Amino acid sequence: MVRNDDSEDPAMPGAKKVHVKTFGCQMNVYDSERMAESLKACGYSETDRPEDADLVILNTCHIREKAAEKVYSELGRLRQLKEQRRLDGLQTQVAVAGCVAQAEGSEIIARAPVVDLVVGPQSYHRIPDLLFRSKVEARPLVETVFPEEDKFKQLPRRARTHAASAFLTVQEGCDKFCTFCVVPYTRGMEYSRSVAAVVGEATELVQAGVAEITLLGQNVNGYHGESENGGTASLAALIKRLARIEGLERIRYTTSHPRDMSDDLIEIHATERKLMPYLHLPFQSGSDRVLAAMNRKHSAAEYLDIVARIRRARPDIALSTDIIVGFPGETEADFAATLRVVEEVGFAQAYSFKYSPRPGTPAAKIDAQLPESIKIERLHRLQRLLDSQQTRFNASCVGRTFPVLFERSGRHEGQLIGRSPYLQPVHAFAAADLLGRIVSVEILGAGPNSLSGVIQAA
Ligand code: SAH
Ligand code: SF4
Ligand code: F3S
Repeated sequence: MVRNDDSEDPAMPGAKKVHVKTFGCQMNVYDSERMAESLKACGYSETDRPEDADLVILNTCHIREKAAEKVYSELGRLRQLKEQRRLDGLQTQVAVAGCVAQAEGSEIIARAPVVDLVVGPQSYHRIPDLLFRSKVEARPLVETVFPEEDKFKQLPRRARTHAASAFLTVQEGCDKFCTFCVVPYTRGMEYSRSVAAVVGEATELVQAGVAEITLLGQNVNGYHGESENGGTASLAALIKRLARIEGLERIRYTTSHPRDMSDDLIEIHATERKLMPYLHLPFQSGSDRVLAAMNRKHSAAEYLDIVARIRRARPDIALSTDIIVGFPGETEADFAATLRVVEEVGFAQAYSFKYSPRPGTPAAKIDAQLPESIKIERLHRLQRLLDSQQTRFNASCVGRTFPVLFERSGRHEGQLIGRSPYLQPVHAFAAADLLGRIVSVEILGAGPNSLSGVIQAA
């Protein structure tokens, strides 16, 4: 059913329309693109208006309760929309993909009968077939097994993206089993794609005009794919190989686990010019007691040591992190230890979350769950500190000149927005033909979330 070529002219161009709504992490953004591409090969064009869509796909996230609940409010809206379209004589199919699909399976259909298809992250290459079967058999289908075949091999080649920057999944799944986290249950065991497959896809992206690739994996630095000579390649080896692709200017990777920050990966931050000086390295908590209860398998001191070694390799590296507050049993002293790690490292950017008990995870069964009020108060204190660090980091960039990769037009006439090496959005007035190019920009202003500057003459 899926055509394995990159033809721009599907059999029935635009005959049907699909709307994909994405929740959650970058991996879901990548998956949504791949789903849209495989449906395009079957005659669906994309629309950003759900009311025009013959097929609506919700690509969902299960990481926190709020994320999962969003799906059901969205499905409530889709029930009305499907009914309205039915009155207009139009059929609509609704599919739920992603991590809620994998975690809840047929429960979704029981709770929201508007759904025609529930499909887990490992079966996206089968969506066109499954939709067809659901229609013919006039019943909802649930597909959440982890199939034998490699979905990446079944998906069509990368279409023209016209984007300057793209995601590329190189590793999926997680065997780390942090006690708070659903990912090992929704994404399955760790799996790495081969170097040849990654290089092939990266080359297609670069030929389509992509200058920057972010390598994705739930545990991307645990990557251990088959190398081109039949051995096993580390993430560092993969980055080294990708850097040889002409026209690929920037490489990033996310998300990393401190345990897998190997010496060769740290070293490559010193030696590989195309690897950007930015690293997202979650530490979750600064308390060794909490880290042990989280099953993180590293201490706060070990985390700080890794940071010191990365900074020795690449002194200008900017660090980002994930932190959870209010893990069951977290005391004020534990929380103070988290603040201390933040003070000691100094982050350019960070994500912080209130602990959310997830069904089926060990931490959800711990008795000492904290009241919401304590979680909220700690989160506010932490976020004040993180915000001040981010503001300080951005302010320290004023007066410097950065290579900026321009990605899209800004809100104002003649304005473009790009990214600095440190991933900050940079606004500048620039000719539209600089989109997709890396240009020197002198930074003149800094806000909490972005920079602004002027183009330097070549
Ligand atoms: N694979 C990545 C992160 C995956 S989830 C890693 O290992 O770092 C992204 C972030 O969501 C996590 O780093 C964690 O900070 C947060 N998170 C995961 N489960 C959570 C939960 N139950 N409650 C609150 N935050 C959670
Ligand atoms: Fe979740 Fe931990 Fe795996 Fe990250 S390493 S995906 S937080 S289980
Ligand atoms: Fe969410 Fe699944 Fe990503 S739970 S964070 S969409 S891996």
